[in-house]
Amino acid sequence: MKSKYFDEWRAKYETMPGAKKYPHVFSPITIGKLEIPCRVKYAATEDNLNTHDGFITKEDIAYMAARAKGVAGGICTMQGVTTDETRKGQGYLGQACAADRKFLPGLTEMANAIKEQKAVSNYQLMHCGRVGGHWAKQAEGPSAVPQRLRLFEPVEEMSHARILECIDQHAFAAEIGVEAGFEIMEISGIVGYLLSNYLNNYTNRRTDEYGGDTVEKRFKFVGDIIRKVKAAIPADMPLLIRLCAWEQLDDVNGNTMEESLKTYLLSEEAGVDMLSITVGWQESTVPVISRDVDQGSWLWVPKKAKEFGVKVPVSMAYRLFKAEMADKAIADGVLDMWENCRPQIADPHMPLKFLEGREEDIRWCVACNVCLARLFRDAPMTCYINPTCAHESQPEWYPENVHTDEPKNVWVVGAGVAGLEAAWTAAERGHKVTVFDKNAEPGGTLLDARQAPYNDYELYEVTTNFGMAQGQKRGVEYKFNTEVTADMIADELPDAVVIATGAHYAKPEGWEGENIISLHEAINDLKPVGDNVVIWGNKKPAIGCALALAKKGKKVTMVGAEKTTGKDINPSFRWRYNIFMAQNGVKAYSDATIKEIGDGYVIVRYYDGVKFPVKADTIVYAERESNNALKEACQENGIEFRLIGDAAIPRGVSGAVHDGYKTGLRI
Ligand SMILES: Cc1cc2nc3c(=O)[nH]c(=O)nc-3n(C[C@H](O)[C@H](O)[C@H](O)COP(=O)(O)O)c2cc1C
Ligand code: SF4
Repeated sequence: MKSKYFDEWRAKYETMPGAKKYPHVFSPITIGKLEIPCRVKYAATEDNLNTHDGFITKEDIAYMAARAKGVAGGICTMQGVTTDETRKGQGYLGQACAADRKFLPGLTEMANAIKEQKAVSNYQLMHCGRVGGHWAKQAEGPSAVPQRLRLFEPVEEMSHARILECIDQHAFAAEIGVEAGFEIMEISGIVGYLLSNYLNNYTNRRTDEYGGDTVEKRFKFVGDIIRKVKAAIPADMPLLIRLCAWEQLDDVNGNTMEESLKTYLLSEEAGVDMLSITVGWQESTVPVISRDVDQGSWLWVPKKAKEFGVKVPVSMAYRLFKAEMADKAIADGVLDMWENCRPQIADPHMPLKFLEGREEDIRWCVACNVCLARLFRDAPMTCYINPTCAHESQPEWYPENVHTDEPKNVWVVGAGVAGLEAAWTAAERGHKVTVFDKNAEPGGTLLDARQAPYNDYELYEVTTNFGMAQGQKRGVEYKFNTEVTADMIADELPDAVVIATGAHYAKPEGWEGENIISLHEAINDLKPVGDNVVIWGNKKPAIGCALALAKKGKKVTMVGAEKTTGKDINPSFRWRYNIFMAQNGVKAYSDATIKEIGDGYVIVRYYDGVKFPVKADTIVYAERESNNALKEACQENGIEFRLIGDAAIPRGVSGAVHDGYKTGLRI
């Protein structure tokens, strides 16, 4: 059976450059009995945009409609719905619920919104198990195994009767999804949610029929859910499941990869039509999706699943950001469907842009995990790099909808992230924009940051390429090697000035000596760096520089005034930097100052008054101060000005992108 818009999309692909460039991604696939025009799937994404009692909101619908448009005829999955009204399974503040018929109208609106974009609508059931209990303050699972992460609630062992009720609740929630009009049914059993808790040896310690010493025995709960859900949905509706292929919980005797792969074969036997392959648990200490993990590095996992004997189609996301990678994987028979979550948080239309041959317009995810950090801290979805994320229901948030009637001659001073972003958004609205930068190329602070290891160059590449491409398309004029002075402003009197001049590394007063150099000089090899380096600063730029120098064989010590090293990095990524520092032998003293600089050493004063010497052939200053000198020139000449990005307060890339975008919208 063909999906509703199958023929329309297939005809459209004929004329699209992306369909020729990525013929495997844009080839049809049959899942169960349903034929789908392409192999793109937006993976389920909690966004905390729904009401706190589980009703779908217009914000969530608009968020999803944008992603549905982006899958270009493929599958669009709504966030996992919780299945019980005690909400022990609810993991997130705004998680949608399907435990009662009262939720049906919102779910129907959601299914319609996805289908209106001519995507295939997928509905996901997700009991969060030991990651649940957000409101109930009590999670439930196969056994009361204590949490490893303090963030999560205590776990209560499910009684036999509760297990049967929970299975029935999954079937009931599935019926609601069918009635709402969804076309595909999916069950999520990933990263430590309920189904995975039953499969796992460490979290399932039951001695009844729902536990046991083999994965086959522990599979019973999952098998019962698959069979009951299958019975509750129409015979021609595909049933999908997301399960972990490798939990990465070896340290607590979790399942081996072989045990996990067996659950794939068992799921097939129980009746699923496609498997979504996932890796890792929230309680695992192994990174799977952060930026330091190379793109495409998990493709060996679906390959292994196929070698293990999986017959149904398999999909996978997991830092598989590029269509060319997915296309090759599909061509090689490693993967059947390209799934993605964060790439479409960062750019809802990402696959569609591949199809339309507009790759330069893609706003790439930088795998920083701010979206996840916010989810866990009960904040509505936001993206580090995409200022429109979660504002899809607000047309005024988009520059093309707020054209100006009074075009201005706008000068943007600084071609860093903030300046580039402000320039293209202002130009889109109709302003005449000129960008100046004293450097020969765009990038600002990121010209230094890109030298840091662990894929930090992606931050530079993504923001600079995107910003430049957008500005060039809209007629922005760029003047590099040009430093804007107060006199230039006074002479030429632009209508408005956006001061996006970034920040500089500030040498503390009284620090003099050949061996005292800036981060810019150190990271770009502009001055000699000795074997023993002390870096003044403990925020992200200092950490990047410390790691870059450590990789060159230097012995690096960081000394910083912040109480925590990397306080400016979100907690879902900071732990990675802590590990990198340990792995590279970088020592860090927080809540500390440099009291004295001597010949080959510094004296560090710790927060408690203790002083001690640290060897230092070179001292690098990495604390930043804003460059905001042009402010006065604008004020003196009565010119409208905006101070944005690091020029306002030195921060990270996100502050710069969001400042720049909003400034372009408002100027
Ligand atoms: C903010 C956020 C919310 C998520 N919510 C869900 C969910 O509701 N159900 C689910 O099965 N997976 C969920 N995931 C996991 C993603 O679907 C996906 O498997 C993961 O992000 C890796 O893919 P990516 O590298 O393309 O982001 C979520 C991920 C993120 C970042
Ligand atoms: S917040 Fe970061 S990880 Fe999440 S989608 Fe945006 S760029 Fe990607």
